[in-house]
This record gives sequence, C-alpha cells and structure tokens, in this order.
Amino acid sequence: MAMASSPAPLQVRLLTAADVPAAARLYHQAYAHSGEGGWDEVTAAAIITDLLRLFPDQCFAAERDGALHGIILCSSIAGARATVEELAVAPDVQRQGIGSALLDHVVAFYRGRGLPFVELVANRAAPAYAFYRRRGFRENEGYRLLGRELRGPGERPPAPGATPDGSPGSPRTRGTSDPPG
Ligand SMILES: CC(C)(COP(=O)(O)OP(=O)(O)OC[C@H]1O[C@@H](n2cnc3c(N)ncnc32)[C@H](O)[C@@H]1OP(=O)(O)O)[C@@H](O)C(=O)NCCC(=O)NCCS
Repeated sequence: MAMASSPAPLQVRLLTAADVPAAARLYHQAYAHSGEGGWDEVTAAAIITDLLRLFPDQCFAAERDGALHGIILCSSIAGARATVEELAVAPDVQRQGIGSALLDHVVAFYRGRGLPFVELVANRAAPAYAFYRRRGFRENEGYRLLGRELRGPGERPPAPGATPDGSPGSPRTRGTSDPPG
C-alpha cells in the first residue's frame, strides 16, 4: 500500500520583483477574507513594489512546492528600529503556522542584525491583533498613532507633476509616468 507523502517543507526566502503580481493577489485576498477590506490589487502591487525597491533584503516570501503562500514586508532605518509593514497569508493555507513562521523569521533576522526592537501597527478589532499579542507584541502605553487629513472635504488631489505652489511643474516632471525602480 502506498504511504501518503508528507507535505513539502515550507521555505522562507527573499521576495523578488517576479513575485509582485502573485504577492499582490495574495495580499488582496488575505484582507478580503479577513473582512477588513484592505488595498485593491493594483495599490497592493504598488506598495509591494515600493517596499521591495527600498528594502529588498527585508521582504520575504513563504513558499511550498513553488506556490507563494505568504509574504512579510519589513523596513528598518539606520539599524535603530525595525517595522513589520505588511504580513499576509493566502486564505486557503491560513492557520497552518505560515504567518508564525514568517514572523519568527523576521524576529530572528533583526535579532541577528543586533536591532533592539521591532514594531508594527495592528487594528485592535482584527484577528491579527490577538495573533501578534500571543507572539510577544505589546501595546506601547505612552504613544498613540496620530494622523491628519491632507485634503479638505471634496478637495481633489493635485494633477500629476504639479508643484507644491500649484504651478504646472517642469517639463521633466509634468505628466511623466516613469515606472518605479
Ligand atoms: C494574520 C495572518 C497573517 C495569520 O496567518 P496564519 O498563517 O493563519 O497564522 P498561523 O497559522 O501562524 O497562526 C494562526 C493564528 O491566528 C489566528 N487566526 C488566524 N486567522 C484568524 C481569524 N480569521 N480569526 C481568528 N483567529 C485567526 C489563529 O487562531 C491562530 O492563533 P494562535 O495560534 O495564536 O492560537 C493571516 O490570518 C492573514 O493574512 N490575515 C489577513 C491579513 C492581516 O490581517 N495581516 C496582518 C495585518 S496587521
């Protein structure tokens, strides 16, 4: 009788530019599944592309049998503090330890680099909040996340290439749509 083969091991590796379309789909699906909404796929691809360009050594993928199962995108500035910017696991493989494996990977990664602290922002009402709490993340007692709107009600965003004073911009910047990178 043939024995059931055990699943291939999960591999955590660096994310690459070739992963961006699949990563954006996964990210969008993970948030849609969680009921939190999240970014649409095009915006997700832009976010992933930017983080990958800025922090290519701090963005990781979890893969099994060549399929992308999860991503964790991180940043750090001057070796002083590290941030988990994004974490997502494909809905059909959630609750199998992949999110934990990715988080463990970056904790070990930054510890190995001598960073003292890793931080992230989580929605208290989302399941991920308890997930992080159970993995040692604690709320900062003294600090709150502050933000302010940059546009008034009904105000439209500036035209591409416009300068802060409202002038049309130089020929170099006006209407250019260079891809990032
Ligand atoms: C949060 C997330 C990354 C966890 O990935 P995962 O691979 O399922 O994580 P693990 O299998 O390692 O651990 C699962 C844990 O999360 C909990 N969990 C996952 N999804 C959950 C859900 N929808 N509701 C309640 N708990 C959930 C499990 O109960 C389990 O908790 P425990 O092990 O601490 O008891 C994944 O659910 C996800 O991608 N969510 C949508 C995106 C998101 O919220 N990202 C984080 C933004 S700050």
